[in-house]
Amino acid sequence: MANHFRFSTLLVHGGLEPGPAGATTVPIVQSSSFAYDTAEGLEDVFRGRQMGQVYTRIGNPTTESLERRLALLDGGVAALATSSGMAAITTAVMTIVRAGDEILSSSSLFGGTFSLFRDTLGNFGITTRFVDPLDLEGVRNAINERTRLLFVESIGNPKLDVPDLPALAKIAHDAGLPFLVDATVTTPYLATGGELGADIIIHSTSKYLNGTGNSIGGVIIDRGVFDWNSPLFPHFQPFYKKYRSFAFSARARKLIHKDVGGCPAPLNSFLMTEGIQTLALRMERHCSNALALARFLKSHPKVSWVKYPGLEDSPDHEVAKRLYGGRYGGLITFGTGDKPSAFRIINSLKLARNLANIGDAKTLVIHPASTICCDYSTEEKALMGVTEDLIRISVGIEDPQDIIDDFKQALE
Ligand SMILES: Cc1ncc(COP(=O)(O)O)c(C=O)c1O
Repeated sequence: MANHFRFSTLLVHGGLEPGPAGATTVPIVQSSSFAYDTAEGLEDVFRGRQMGQVYTRIGNPTTESLERRLALLDGGVAALATSSGMAAITTAVMTIVRAGDEILSSSSLFGGTFSLFRDTLGNFGITTRFVDPLDLEGVRNAINERTRLLFVESIGNPKLDVPDLPALAKIAHDAGLPFLVDATVTTPYLATGGELGADIIIHSTSKYLNGTGNSIGGVIIDRGVFDWNSPLFPHFQPFYKKYRSFAFSARARKLIHKDVGGCPAPLNSFLMTEGIQTLALRMERHCSNALALARFLKSHPKVSWVKYPGLEDSPDHEVAKRLYGGRYGGLITFGTGDKPSAFRIINSLKLARNLANIGDAKTLVIHPASTICCDYSTEEKALMGVTEDLIRISVGIEDPQDIIDDFKQALE
C-alpha cells in the first residue's frame, strides 16, 4: 500500500495485499519452507537475483505483511519482525557490534535489556557503558574510539524518565554513531522513529502494538538514513556495496537473524497484524486513563510519590510534551513507603492483574523489585529507578472510573 495515507489508515491497511478469494485479513502461511519448480529458481532466490521466500526462519509471507505495515508506521525503509522484543534488540545490536566494541546505553532500561548488555554480550567481549540519558554532556563524554552505537528507551521502563531523543540523536550522529531507540513504551503513535531522530527503531510488539496480550514479538525498523559506509563499520562493506541504504537491514536479516533464528511464528505475525489496527484508539485511551489515574494517586493521602510524565510538576513533563504532542503513555509508577504496603495494595486490587507485562488492554501491576528486577543489586535497581516500594501500573483501556475505584479501595 502506498505510504501517502495517514497514520490511522496505515494501521488498518498498511502492508496488506489482496488475499486469496477476497480475504480481507492477511493469510496465515503456516509453512516452514517454500518450494521452487526448478533448481535454477531456488538458486536465484538464494543468490538474491530474485525476490522470494525460502524458509520461515528468514522470511514468511504473513510476517512480511506485518513487516511492511510496521515499516510504514515508523517511516522505515524496511522492518524485520522477530520472535520477541529481546530477539529484536539482540539482533539489532549484534548486527552492529563485534567483539572488542562498546555499546553506549542509557542506564534506564528494561531489566532484560540491561542483563543482555551487561552479562550476555559482556561474556562475548562486548562492553556496555551505562549513562544517564538525561545527562547530555555525560553521554557525549562517554563516547570513545570503541563506541559503535547509542541505545536508549524512548520512555524508560520502569524509571519513566523521558530523554530528549533528538538531542541524543545529534550527539550520536556528531560522533558518526547510529542511534537505536527502543520505542516500545511510546509506539509510533506517540512519535515516529523519524520524529525522534532514531536510525533504528525497536519495539517489543508484545506490548501496545499487539495490545491484547495474546502473543510475544518484536520488530527492528530501519529508516535507511545512517551512513554505514564508514571506517567504524568495515564489516558493513559487502552489504553497503550491494544494498546501499538497505545495508543494515540486509546484514540484520541475511546474517544475524538467519544465524540466531529469532523468527516469529506465522500465527503470531497474524495476531500482531490484527492487533495493530486499533493502536491509535487504544493509545488515546491508555494515555487519558493514565493521566486520570496519576492525578487520583497524586491526591491520595496514603500515596508517598507518583511518577508520570503527564503530571505538570513531573521533571520530564516539558520534554515529554514537546516530543509526544501532549500524550504521555500508559505507564505510571507510585509508592506508599515500603514493600509490605506495596504488596498489600497489589493483593487488594480486584480489577488490575498482577503480572509481568505492559501494554495490554487490561490494567496490569507489578512490584518490579521482587520480580523482574529481583536479580539485581540495590545499586543496579537504583540505576533502573526501582525502589522497594515501587508499583508499576500499565493502565488499560477500561472505564477510567473503574480503574480509579479499584486503586481507591486497594489503598483504603
Ligand atoms: C521497553 C522494553 N523493551 C523490550 C522488552 C522485551 O520485550 P519481549 O518481552 O517482547 O521480549 C520489554 C519487555 O517488557 C520492554 O518493556
